[in-house]
Amino acid sequence: MSDAIADGGALSALLQETRKFPPPDGFAAKAVAGPEIYAEAAADPVAWWAEQAKGLQWETPWDQVLDWDVPFARWFVGGRLNASVNCVDRHVAAGHGDRVAFHWVGEPEGDTRTITYDDLLEMVSKAANALVELGVQAEDRVAIYLPMIPEAVVAMLACARLGAPHSVIFGGFSAEALAGRILDLDARVVITADGGFRRGAPSGLKVNVDEALEQCPAVRTVLVVRRTGQDVGWQDGRDLWWHEVVDRQSPSHTPEAFDAEQPLYIMYTSGTTAKPKGILHTTGGYLTHVATTHRLVFDVKPDQDIFWTAADVGWVTGHSYIVYGPLANGTTSIMYEGLPDAGGRDRWWRIVEEYKVSILYTAPTTIRTLMKWGEEHLAKHDLSSLRLLGSVGEPINPEAWMWYRTNVGGGRCPIVDTWWQTETGGIMITPLPGVTTTKPGAAVTPFPGIGVDIVDNDGVSVGNGQGGYLLLTDPWPGMLRGIWGDPERYRDTYWSRFEGKYFAGDGAKRDDDGDLWLLGRIDDVMNVSGHRISTTEIEHALVGHPAVVEAAVVGASDPTTGQAVVAFVTVKGEGVDGEAGKALVDDLRAHVAKVIGPIAKPRQILLSPELPKTRSGKIMRRLLRDVAEHRDLGDVTTLLDPTVVNMIDTQMRESGGTDEEG
Ligand code: PRX
Repeated sequence: MSDAIADGGALSALLQETRKFPPPDGFAAKAVAGPEIYAEAAADPVAWWAEQAKGLQWETPWDQVLDWDVPFARWFVGGRLNASVNCVDRHVAAGHGDRVAFHWVGEPEGDTRTITYDDLLEMVSKAANALVELGVQAEDRVAIYLPMIPEAVVAMLACARLGAPHSVIFGGFSAEALAGRILDLDARVVITADGGFRRGAPSGLKVNVDEALEQCPAVRTVLVVRRTGQDVGWQDGRDLWWHEVVDRQSPSHTPEAFDAEQPLYIMYTSGTTAKPKGILHTTGGYLTHVATTHRLVFDVKPDQDIFWTAADVGWVTGHSYIVYGPLANGTTSIMYEGLPDAGGRDRWWRIVEEYKVSILYTAPTTIRTLMKWGEEHLAKHDLSSLRLLGSVGEPINPEAWMWYRTNVGGGRCPIVDTWWQTETGGIMITPLPGVTTTKPGAAVTPFPGIGVDIVDNDGVSVGNGQGGYLLLTDPWPGMLRGIWGDPERYRDTYWSRFEGKYFAGDGAKRDDDGDLWLLGRIDDVMNVSGHRISTTEIEHALVGHPAVVEAAVVGASDPTTGQAVVAFVTVKGEGVDGEAGKALVDDLRAHVAKVIGPIAKPRQILLSPELPKTRSGKIMRRLLRDVAEHRDLGDVTTLLDPTVVNMIDTQMRESGGTDEEG
């Protein structure tokens, strides 16, 4: 364990002067969850979760709440339900068909759509009928590569309706990354769009699918949504327009109920190896988890609130808190297609004002960006509809937390800093807004029914004030059911380091009040702008370039993006400097974008004749991180050749430490 984790790092000093914010009186009085909830859940967590599951519509009730054969869980054994019915049909049946499910806001100004639950039922039914016509059956995996448009939600729910697990791949991934995922899934159907908008300019998606499918001959159908109107390549017999196939379908579709453990989706995420992991989520437990956390953490009143998760459906945050959680609860959500500054730096605040958004959930990296742009963009708009703010994706620094509270929340909105992962399916550590006293930078306490421990290298719990590894001690309903196609990797990755406990990969600590603080990843996973990226995956991409001999990638801390990718690369031959070096660096950055996607592009690449290694030949990544962050290097005498690191350090300082944006 690094010293920074063991002693709680720089946070220790901050904790001394931490401010505390109890829930505002008015808020607590009307909150969905009161303080008794913790004791109720603790008395019998499994029974408590079963109580929550009763909020869903089951065709057949379960016979057993949990079957736990470490590390394989089955929740609500014997129960049968349909996720799409729970998200759509039952709200229409309950008389809420005219409630808005989504206020969709496109990137181009004025391009908006209002979709009620009635509309959504019709859209999902038609899409499900279309997929049936295209031969999609339960268990078939469907890859979805779409921008933030309503069809993305509709496609997900149509798959869920048929018991066909979907795998949404974020639009920022390259053709190669897409191909890798489609092959791993053995998907036969891909749903995409001609392209999307990025600050006014149409960008291509279909073109990436075409390139990816050169490697995926098993794909028989590509369903293409027309979004931008750009020209696209076309393969007759394989490619079909969404509007031609879906629009002519019957608006009614009779759903079938599936087993509670029916696979719902597979979401790829980065781990410590070069190959992304397909995280598998199933139906009954996942829906219970996301509906419960959405209701209680965000204090949701479905007939009043306008809920906005400002994230992409291509990530788990979008799955759980744009799609499944809010829809299971019959909520009205905002779905915004664009970047925060598309059409001006006040775009978000215009949306909040226009739609009277009451709950906003976003990532610290965005909060820091908004902070950098300045308060004047907020001051122009009436943000008084906001009553609750949430944060997710990385540790939120106290300055950003305070800025969020003061400038966005007007000092009156509780902030919920929510810790969770793709693997956990839903929120795991978080304040409850009407109950918990919050502190800037702390996620504070486990959600009711969730077991957490912080341990040292030997698995022994550490006391308050000490840092350690974050473990989840008990199974939870939204937990991943495995890694797609690789049960052994599932066991090894999460359940073997500390026998029988889930090892999250994060460092954490409890302060003297017993409140939880997250300290960041303790493995080779970086968190860049809230995106989870593996150092190994980028190294693997770099060494795949013909000029590269060896590469080491580190995450250097960055004031806006949290971490930034910095790569140290040795090249073939005599090395390259000057113009040729610059050209090679550009080429390498483009190469990483091609292999993984633009989100993985290194901020900086340093060409070096050698990498610093220990006498046993291991690359000293920790030292390279110090170099990347301009820290004092201390004693480097255990290195094979200490001059190497000094040379790299000098080179880094001369280069100024930052390059062009990623
Ligand atoms: O390191 C933690 C960080 O994000 C990781 C999970 O990333 P991903 O699977 O992409 O899911 C992100 C959205 C749920 C975690 O291992 N993380 C997430 N939320 C927080 C956080 N770190 C600190 N505080 C948080 N609130």
